Amino acid sequence: MCDSRQQQKINYYEQRLNIRQVIEDANLQELDEALNICDLSSVERKFHLWQRLLPRVHPFYAVKCNDDPMIVQVLAKLGAGFDCASKNELKLVLGSAVTPERIIFANPCRPVSHLAYAEKHGVTNGTVDNEFEIYKLYKHYPSSNLIVRYKSEAKEAQCPLGDKFGCDADGDATALMLLAKALELNVTGTSVHVGSGCSELGAYNRAIRKAKHLFQFGELLDFDMNLLDIGGGFPGSDDEKFEKIAEDVNKSLDRYFPDENVEIIAEPGRFFVASALTLICKIHAKREVRNPSTGKLDTVMYYLNDGIYGSFNCILYDHQVIIAEHYLNSTEDLPQFKSLLFGPTCDALDMITDNLQLPNLNRGDLIGFPNMGAYTVPVASPFNGFEVPKRMYFQAI
Ligand SMILES: Cc1ncc(COP(=O)(O)O)c(C=O)c1O
Repeated sequence: MCDSRQQQKINYYEQRLNIRQVIEDANLQELDEALNICDLSSVERKFHLWQRLLPRVHPFYAVKCNDDPMIVQVLAKLGAGFDCASKNELKLVLGSAVTPERIIFANPCRPVSHLAYAEKHGVTNGTVDNEFEIYKLYKHYPSSNLIVRYKSEAKEAQCPLGDKFGCDADGDATALMLLAKALELNVTGTSVHVGSGCSELGAYNRAIRKAKHLFQFGELLDFDMNLLDIGGGFPGSDDEKFEKIAEDVNKSLDRYFPDENVEIIAEPGRFFVASALTLICKIHAKREVRNPSTGKLDTVMYYLNDGIYGSFNCILYDHQVIIAEHYLNSTEDLPQFKSLLFGPTCDALDMITDNLQLPNLNRGDLIGFPNMGAYTVPVASPFNGFEVPKRMYFQAI
């Protein structure tokens, strides 16, 4: 992880970021590493869109989605809060001049040393979904605020999370609150995640209705219930879908949480960063497969300088659907061939896609992949000695 105070060079553009121009200026054909083009203004635009469509919900950016320090700094300056899952994420965010009350330690299972770090730096809000974590907090961080994470899953989501986190909202959540009461700990709110890349419109309404019941139960126990956390799950590049989800969230909040004294937060990850990064890869090798009887070109196999062990891990872990764009001029009349894209490592699993139609490209040609900002860079490894992509930052003047 980079030092959060490290300032990288920012390139400025007018009106629209022109990827072709960036490629030409950066002389990419000469480089052997892939390049991530990071548009910081895209992150800013998403923040303003969020504020306009979800004015009652304070976004706490889920750092796990892309822990690029420049992105964290942009969001910190705009006034976002942060969802951190570990000591290192806390360090990164605190190092970006974010005060501890703008952080939620949103990992219901934390090592003791990470809790100690949170306590030392005044990060008091943290999620919890099981009794063992409650006993751990009782022993190691009894003054923290417990935010009970319950389960309420979308019927359709790119990455469901409910098999790992969240207690049952009806029975278990109330039992945890009773246990916290008996141990004289403070429960101050609820948290949920409907699933990352949520496609079901009614999912947030269901989750917020469940939170209302838990708030009522908490108030019966005399807890000061003041934080409603509706989690992540918001779309990364489909703003129309976001608009519909936001409408549903606003209606549900007005219905179940009209009280202005309850602080409402969310933990969007992919929403802010998915469309901010475009990955440019170079074809460093290719193989042509011909039909044995006709000798005609049938399939082309391309070997790129980034793959499944790098940014494209998102295909395995995030079930991402990849879009590829080539940068040849006027290719309308060129025949298209079945094209397979492979990453650079020696593993046959390192295949990016096997169902593209592309003109017959050459070694040295570049292929661009938009929407590569979410759950890509932080997971990438330099397996087999191949570097993870370099980064260039851009911002509108
Ligand atoms: C606790 C928590 N909050 C927020 C997020 C971010 O979710 P998304 O990128 O879908 O907004 C995740 C993703 O895994 C998560 O586990």
